[in-house]
Amino acid sequence: MGINILGMGNYVPEQTLVNDDFKKFVETNDEWIRTRTGIVERHMAGWEPVWYMGKKAAQAAIEKAGITPDQIGLIICTTVTSDFLTPSMASIIQDELGAENAAAFDLGAACTGFVYALDTAARFLATDDSMKYVLIVSSEAISRFCDFTDRQTCILFGDGAAAAVVERSDKLYSSVLGSDGSGAKALFARNLMPAPEVKQDVDFDDGFPEKPVRQLYQDGKAVYKFATQALPKSFELAASKIGVTKDDIDWFVPHQANVRIIETAAKKLGVPMEKFILTLDHFGNTSSASIPLALNEGIEKGLIKKGQTLALIGFGAGLTYGGIILEY
Ligand code: UT7
Repeated sequence: MGINILGMGNYVPEQTLVNDDFKKFVETNDEWIRTRTGIVERHMAGWEPVWYMGKKAAQAAIEKAGITPDQIGLIICTTVTSDFLTPSMASIIQDELGAENAAAFDLGAACTGFVYALDTAARFLATDDSMKYVLIVSSEAISRFCDFTDRQTCILFGDGAAAAVVERSDKLYSSVLGSDGSGAKALFARNLMPAPEVKQDVDFDDGFPEKPVRQLYQDGKAVYKFATQALPKSFELAASKIGVTKDDIDWFVPHQANVRIIETAAKKLGVPMEKFILTLDHFGNTSSASIPLALNEGIEKGLIKKGQTLALIGFGAGLTYGGIILEY
């Protein structure tokens, strides 16, 4: 079971915020954000729909892949900031693209979404000969539900989208997906609030910290600790399945949350930072879009070349984690 990445596309909204812009909302400064996170600027969607950003990235990926939308058998979208509770973003993008022969669904694994979606695509392709191409679209506008009074969280996130068209192949492939739901309360945004009288009932009290509906809560330290373990663990679990070691990897493409998380993981793995694709400085943390944005940027810059071995590693709310090792 393997996949070939045929084509990818990135799309980011035009407007950007630099670190000092956050001084308008919270007590912060450029030096703190740069040294503690590695972030310099990030794109902001404003009211640009999330599906629209996803569609733009998808069109670029389809063009690169050299296929037509009607050849796509499945569209998997990942987002934690869908414009609609229902229908899925995948159904909207299907119609916008004219991908009339595709099944379509959204997949929820937060920042690990792209890794989960790629592995799901690989499994569909491996078990359905009639399916030739799967389109994965990761599009996020975390700015939509950031608490702009929480200085520890709002400075981290940016908006953007990336997409990939993949097909079946017998190239090197290994994956691991995981979740530790005991950490769910460390990173969440409520969608619907229980009625107050229901909240009184202990049987229904979920124990999550108080936070207004659709506002992001993050216990930064708890997630940081999880991330620095999940990153090397995901790689090692996926690598051990196929007898690959860190020395066989040309490029690590990790979720871009904080450069210090990546540095700590690099040290644990014994891998130089030069082997990691980094986009944090200009995109910030774009949740599930961050790995494909980084992957495609690495490809477009000519760093990642066909035949090279990549390790894509995600972690995020859930708390979820996952790693994929593949030949590009
Ligand atoms: O994709 C989802 C996954 N998310 C993540 O991976 C995020 C993981 N967590 C992190 O990246 C880090 O924990 C943060 C970047 C969120 C915070 O960094 P930290 O090094 O853990 O900072 P801290 O919470 O220990 O805060 C240190 C100090 C505090 O001040 P005192 O108490 O020492 O006086 C904070 O109040 O820095 C202060 N601080 C800030 N100062 C200026 C926190 N945020 C800011 C800020 N500007 N924006």
